[in-house]
Amino acid sequence: MSNTAEIAMTRSLFGVYEVQISPLDLLAIESVLRQHRLPIVELGTGYGVTSLYLGMAARLAQKQMWTFDCVDRRIEPVKKAWLPNMTFTQADVLAGAPVAEVKVLLSQPVLLFCDDGQKPAEFRAYAPCLLPGSVVMVHDWTREIGPGDVDATVRECELEPVERGNHSLIAAWRKP
Ligand SMILES: C[S@@+](CC[C@H](N)C(=O)[O-])C[C@H]1O[C@@H](n2cnc3c(N)ncnc32)[C@H](O)[C@@H]1O
Repeated sequence: MSNTAEIAMTRSLFGVYEVQISPLDLLAIESVLRQHRLPIVELGTGYGVTSLYLGMAARLAQKQMWTFDCVDRRIEPVKKAWLPNMTFTQADVLAGAPVAEVKVLLSQPVLLFCDDGQKPAEFRAYAPCLLPGSVVMVHDWTREIGPGDVDATVRECELEPVERGNHSLIAAWRKP
């Protein structure tokens, strides 16, 4: 069995299968969380299991966590387990008033996790807003977003790559 197939079969978080990140992605996120204790903004909630993980990480650091999705796909057990420091907003993060709402959240150092359906557009819209001390992570690196999508923004915003230490689908940069 290929490594990818093994990961797909073993992919769960908190024992729940409705999660769209892999164990390797989790290791990469952990290496970022170890270095940066920040409020967290997630773009693309999906079923909300990763949101719970990020929300608990924020809670342990005594920070807030906000997550956005244009559809509320959160499964019932996730809604029941939702934490007091977490806010879900149903909104299209690439159109209209929600764009300003996300930008207000970025007016403090944050960990921004880009995981919606249009990652290059999302990265280009929000990476330039990040304040010093912030970190931006993208999911599906090389599958839905790659160097050609981010290089100009990374250069213009003077972002520095964050070492994430494995072959996950996560890439990350910090704003020094
Ligand atoms: C890959 S899933 C998120 C997975 C989730 N972060 C996880 O790890 O389980 C992508 C989500 O982005 C949402 N989405 C796509 N385009 C969006 C947009 N423009 N604004 C807000 N959400 C969007 C979709 O509804 C979908 O639920």
